Amino acid sequence: MRNLDFTLLFLFFIVFSLQTAAQTDILQYVDQLIGTNNGGNVFAGATLPYGMAKAVADVDGQNTGGFSTDGSNVTGFSHMHDSGTGGNPSLGNFPLFPQLCAEDQVDNCEFLIEGRATHYVNESVVATPGYFALDLVSGVSAEMTVSRHAALYRFTFPADQKASNGSVLSPLILLDLTDLSASRQNAAVILDEKTGRMMGNGTFIPSFGSGSFVLHFCADFEGATVKDNGIWVNNRAGTEPKELFVTRGINLFYIQAGAWIRFEATETNEISARVGVSFVSPEQACQNAETEIPGPNWDFDGLQSSAEDAWREKLGGVTIEAGGQDDSFLTNFYSAMYRTMMSPQNYTGENPLWKSTEPYYDSFYCIWDAFRSQLPFLTIIDPDTLSEMVRSLIDTYVHLGWLPDCRMSLCKGFTQGGSNADVVLTDAHVKNLTGPTPINWNLALQAVINDAENEPLDWSNEGRGGLQSWKTLNYIPYLDYDYLGFGTNSRSISRTLEYSYNDFCISTFSKSMGLSNYTTYLSRSSNWQNLYKSDTKSFINGNDTGFTGFLQPKYLNGTWGYQDPILCSPLDSFCSLTDNPQETFEDSIWEYQFFVPHDIATLIKQWGGVDAFISRLNFLHTSGLTDIGNEPSFLTVFLYHYAGRPALSADRVRSYIPSQFNATTTGLPGNDDTGAMASFTAFCLSGLFPNPGQNVYFITPPFFESISFTNPQNGKVATIRNVGFVANASLYVQSATLNGVGYNKSWIGHEFFSEGWTLELMLGDEESEWGTKEEDLPPSVSTGVGGMMG
Ligand SMILES: *[C@@H]1O[C@H](CO)[C@@H](O)[C@H](O)[C@H]1NC(C)=O
Ligand SMILES: *[C@@H]1O[C@H](CO)[C@@H](O)[C@H](O)[C@H]1NC(C)=O
Ligand SMILES: *[C@@H]1O[C@H](CO)[C@@H](O)[C@H](O)[C@H]1NC(C)=O
Ligand SMILES: *[C@@H]1O[C@H](CO)[C@@H](O)[C@H](O)[C@H]1NC(C)=O
Ligand SMILES: *[C@@H]1O[C@H](CO)[C@@H](O)[C@H](O)[C@H]1NC(C)=O
Ligand SMILES: *[C@@H]1O[C@H](CO)[C@@H](O)[C@H](O)[C@H]1NC(C)=O
Ligand SMILES: *[C@@H]1O[C@H](CO)[C@@H](O)[C@H](O)[C@H]1NC(C)=O
Ligand SMILES: *[C@@H]1O[C@H](CO)[C@@H](O)[C@H](O)[C@H]1NC(C)=O
Ligand SMILES: *[C@@H]1O[C@H](CO)[C@@H](O)[C@H](O)[C@H]1NC(C)=O
Ligand SMILES: *[C@@H]1O[C@H](CO)[C@@H](O)[C@H](O)[C@H]1NC(C)=O
Ligand SMILES: *[C@@H]1O[C@H](CO)[C@@H](O)[C@H](O)[C@H]1NC(C)=O
Ligand SMILES: *[C@@H]1O[C@H](CO)[C@@H](O)[C@H](O)[C@H]1NC(C)=O
Repeated sequence: MRNLDFTLLFLFFIVFSLQTAAQTDILQYVDQLIGTNNGGNVFAGATLPYGMAKAVADVDGQNTGGFSTDGSNVTGFSHMHDSGTGGNPSLGNFPLFPQLCAEDQVDNCEFLIEGRATHYVNESVVATPGYFALDLVSGVSAEMTVSRHAALYRFTFPADQKASNGSVLSPLILLDLTDLSASRQNAAVILDEKTGRMMGNGTFIPSFGSGSFVLHFCADFEGATVKDNGIWVNNRAGTEPKELFVTRGINLFYIQAGAWIRFEATETNEISARVGVSFVSPEQACQNAETEIPGPNWDFDGLQSSAEDAWREKLGGVTIEAGGQDDSFLTNFYSAMYRTMMSPQNYTGENPLWKSTEPYYDSFYCIWDAFRSQLPFLTIIDPDTLSEMVRSLIDTYVHLGWLPDCRMSLCKGFTQGGSNADVVLTDAHVKNLTGPTPINWNLALQAVINDAENEPLDWSNEGRGGLQSWKTLNYIPYLDYDYLGFGTNSRSISRTLEYSYNDFCISTFSKSMGLSNYTTYLSRSSNWQNLYKSDTKSFINGNDTGFTGFLQPKYLNGTWGYQDPILCSPLDSFCSLTDNPQETFEDSIWEYQFFVPHDIATLIKQWGGVDAFISRLNFLHTSGLTDIGNEPSFLTVFLYHYAGRPALSADRVRSYIPSQFNATTTGLPGNDDTGAMASFTAFCLSGLFPNPGQNVYFITPPFFESISFTNPQNGKVATIRNVGFVANASLYVQSATLNGVGYNKSWIGHEFFSEGWTLELMLGDEESEWGTKEEDLPPSVSTGVGGMMG
């Protein structure tokens, strides 16, 4: 009786807390399947914020992030991934695959990827923070959760499948010594016959970088008695020997191989697998697993609920009053916010390349994508972690001699254009970023000046090329004569633009640090003007667009070259670094001509005034020339602010959200790029967008009645509130108040977030005078408006 009462009470309590949790739990707004189809390449699986272990089912279709909802088949379950990247599929090392062998004969099992690929039951996919699960059509179901450096799987095998003699089939799990790109150079595995433990390593190639990396693993199993185990090579398996070493032979010949283990069938037929990973050693992989997921009887539910708590804490800093807005917008926001915390990944303690007490972060993939809004978003929601990332960048400079532009799997990634870590460090500096351990700004300054002053031998991996020309001719020439360093001799226009902005950031940073020679960098920041050819026209299918004056490539001798302004736009063809490099990287002259984040005032003057500027910007956005699925387009959405027309920026934002960034599996227009697209979405929905490297956020009405950001370092709450909000209506700011006092500027500084201010926007149907006056525009270096030069 007493027991029953207690049970009832307990049940009531559970039901009650589930109900209240269902009403208030922020995790309900995270949909990890957004962007898992149509090239978003989003990682859908289980991870902690910035976690190294990222477990998910890998498929044989769009598998850059492991899993995809594209209807392709599951080939394994692996423990590390990147999210949203381009390039080759990243990581996915040492996948496990569960199956039953016909007639209980090991050789009847499918070992090769092609043979074992199995579809999953569409409706069975469950992806929630810290958890991923699906059922294979074979009847095996798989669930997974993670700690920082280890994955925990729960495989449930069907217990009703028998051999012809009537005995229940024994569950088998194989481990494949491969990764998603089959980039393995050599690998080894050693099995413990009794416990079934598998330990080993592999040498792999990074997905968008140079060199190679070694990863180690340690896999243990629980749930049933080990029946037998061994190794497999090329679809043949044996119980002897218990270790295997594979390498590449003639013509880099690649063979599929690995280890396997079988268990005595049980009533539940539930087998758990715990896989620790490490870049340091197989022993450390085991230690990671043992300390983070102690046994025996691994606590799957407890691990999952710690992961959920970690995400609740991260996401709980932002609260929203929807004001009648549809839930799908909340889902879009919180899912985007969630995805900004996939990468860079925290590999502190896992870096065998140098000894240091500084943190080590990896998967800056690439900074060219992340500097624009992802890392600025973390400045607001997670400054402690961003300060660790910044310290890691500086420490990478200290030990490798250069700041990275791209970095993954402990390897150098390819430079896309400028040295945009300069923007990241400057942005952190102008926003007073700090953490429990302060950032060494002197070292940071040294690192960015190194980018500007010294050319590395291999500038396809770090730093900048063509620095001699940059300093003497003041532009990057088309077909430069450069014998100091080597890289793809291309992208002269986009590199000129990016180096200009990088130097602007260095001038800001060095001025603030008291260097008098900041003026040198300030003067180099106008170098982009040397590639402006005032008589170039642009045609689409022979029709004159009506615009005259475009950036053009220029030879060393000062003679102009030619690149069609629409080349590399969506109306033409995609220009990748590796396949068809041009003088602009991955985008057109049309898009890049606006990339002067520090001096839009000069652009406006150059094109003949505000109206000409606006019609050119409108044409970019309405002609099909812009590629909103690639990062160079982000800032162009907000440039109307500089023309005194913040209402047009608001319209432009609404033209892309939700039509291009929405809460569906195909809801991203391009690769998420480790959260870059996600951060664009989250900022746009919030009503503030950064101009990184400057203490500037553009103001547009949020998509909700109000949104508040709690500063995790001091607890102060910043709120931006729409007054007169109507969901989905095209409303414009009529006037604004900041902490109750009239506020006419169309932009605001980071103090808004660090001091916890309140910005109220009075909305109305028509465009207003608000933000239109010269003194209310965001700053341009040439005019000094906004107090930047003051
Ligand atoms: C599962 O989803 C995929 C992708 O949407 C689709 O192609 C396939 O037909 C679906 N399968 C079933 C059985 O509904
Ligand atoms: C996926 O696997 C199923 C069996 O599960 C098979 O019938 C189908 O042909 C596979 N599809 C592809 C595209 O390989
Ligand atoms: C049935 O066959 C399997 C595989 O050959 C064997 O391992 C098992 O012991 C047999 N069971 C019985 C009940 O004979
Ligand atoms: C991988 O493990 C094998 C077997 O223990 C060992 O011989 C080899 O040196 C290891 N390779 C690396 C790169 O650690
Ligand atoms: C706003 O528009 C979206 C589609 O973009 C729609 O799903 C939603 O219902 C609309 N919300 C309201 C309140 O009208
Ligand atoms: C990064 O990882 C290290 C080592 O696991 C840990 O001490 C540190 O707290 C982590 N940083 C963050 C911001 O979680
Ligand atoms: C940074 O600190 C300086 C000096 O205390 C202060 O004037 C400035 O407002 C701060 N900037 C931000 C963005 O908080
Ligand atoms: C500016 O001064 C710094 C610090 O002395 C130095 O490292 C850097 O090379 C100088 N830059 C130029 C362009 O002179
Ligand atoms: C020029 O534009 C007009 C109107 O948009 C269109 O009908 C015509 O086909 C275009 N000319 C060419 C050569 O594409
Ligand atoms: C400048 O160099 C380009 C490329 O080599 C060449 O085509 C052009 O004729 C040169 N111009 C002059 C004025 O020599
Ligand atoms: C969602 O975004 C995708 C990708 O940009 C787009 O193709 C799709 O039409 C959008 N869906 C809706 C309902 O707006
Ligand atoms: C804002 O603009 C209004 C209208 O021009 C003016 O009356 C008011 O003084 C301005 N407020 C501030 C803080 O500049």
